[in-house]
Amino acid sequence: MIRLNVNIDHIATLRQARKAFEPSVVAAAILADLAGASGITIHLRGDRRHIQDDDARVLRSVVKTHLNLEMAVTDEMIAIAAEITPTAVTLVPESPNEITTEGGLNVLAHEVEIKKATGALQHAGVLVSIFIDPVLEQVEASCRAGAQQIEICTARYADLTDPRHSPQSALVTEELFRLRAVARRAGELGMQVAAGHGLTYRNVRAVAAIEPVEELNIGHNIIARAALVGLERAVTEMLAAMNG
Ligand code: PXP
Repeated sequence: MIRLNVNIDHIATLRQARKAFEPSVVAAAILADLAGASGITIHLRGDRRHIQDDDARVLRSVVKTHLNLEMAVTDEMIAIAAEITPTAVTLVPESPNEITTEGGLNVLAHEVEIKKATGALQHAGVLVSIFIDPVLEQVEASCRAGAQQIEICTARYADLTDPRHSPQSALVTEELFRLRAVARRAGELGMQVAAGHGLTYRNVRAVAAIEPVEELNIGHNIIARAALVGLERAVTEMLAAMNG
């Protein structure tokens, strides 16, 4: 069965909006685990806009399944990952003004630097995954850089299946073809295959059905739905607290 890692960055975003202690990322991780998630994903960004270093440390001791730490290829992050030793690290590109990760890492352009990072992380006992666009040359470069896994960026597929746009079925079919080809190539090269970015309750099925894809990383859509499906209960509980 395909595995789901729940990305809980948005729980930390909500907490950091007030610099409060709630909502707790630990509680979120435990609830996701109880609901059947295979693992938890967090992104420790250079600007610390949501997940904090301490969150990563505490989650490392709480999450007994699979903790996937997304991070940029910097000396600072490599040192943190080597200290915390999450189950896996996913190397992602990062730029200061982006709202979210905007695409895959250009492994071809930074192969030497990425290979060095991969070696250091693997030496610390961490599985290394690289987030890449669905481009065959990037899969091959990831393999040469020593990655044990790739995560294929589904951002374009998500964009093409966005219900606000008019249906673009030919382009969706074409993008799914690209995702499949890249997944297959990674499998042939002996790498594990994950996918993620912009996946939703509406568009996830076709990606989950791609044969070599073993793991999905999904955040925004799950946390967005959780906020709404939990709202009625939250209001009811506040009314009860008010009225004793
Ligand atoms: N995979 C990677 C590498 C990401 O950077 C993100 C976003 O943090 C995701 C998956 C999850 O994307 P979304 O929040 O759109 O589900």
